[in-house]
Amino acid sequence: MTFQLAHLESNSKQELYSHLQSQLRSLLEGERDFIANAANFSSLVYHSLPDLNWAGFYLLKDNELVLGPLQGKPACFRIAMGQGVCGTAAELGQTVVVDNVHEFPGHIACDSDSNSEIVVSLIKDGELIGVLDLDSPAIARFDDDDAKGLNELVKIFMDSMSSKPVGGDQQ
Ligand code: SME
Repeated sequence: MTFQLAHLESNSKQELYSHLQSQLRSLLEGERDFIANAANFSSLVYHSLPDLNWAGFYLLKDNELVLGPLQGKPACFRIAMGQGVCGTAAELGQTVVVDNVHEFPGHIACDSDSNSEIVVSLIKDGELIGVLDLDSPAIARFDDDDAKGLNELVKIFMDSMSSKPVGGDQQ
């Protein structure tokens, strides 16, 4: 399989996310394995969005977030619910945007290059299954357009699998 990343320079953020939606749909078409799709989703985002130093997943296991597929430097293995940006977003079941992570109480510094962050909760059939986490070396890298665009991408990703990734039983 070869996959051509879109040429995204000079596009507005909305155009960029619209391109990414098409790319993600075609990338995940025909594959329903959660980990495989999460790995390629993180790669697509990491290589398509500017100014990122980390893009990856934390997945809910036994009421704890455990590191999943990622692009970027090695990161903390486990995050408790309610801790850091990821644990806060997971506990709320929402998207959290942090302009300056150094001002976020309890921020977990996995990569010293990170200055801003967005975390999108993954909800399947009304239940939290994990989060998508993006980090940037730029202050205030993420805004409402990113939150909206990433939530649309997450929806495509969530629709690509048929069940929750629990116990390796996903199809
Ligand atoms: N900064 C995150 C931890 C994960 S890393 O950024 C990859 C947090 O505070 O939850």
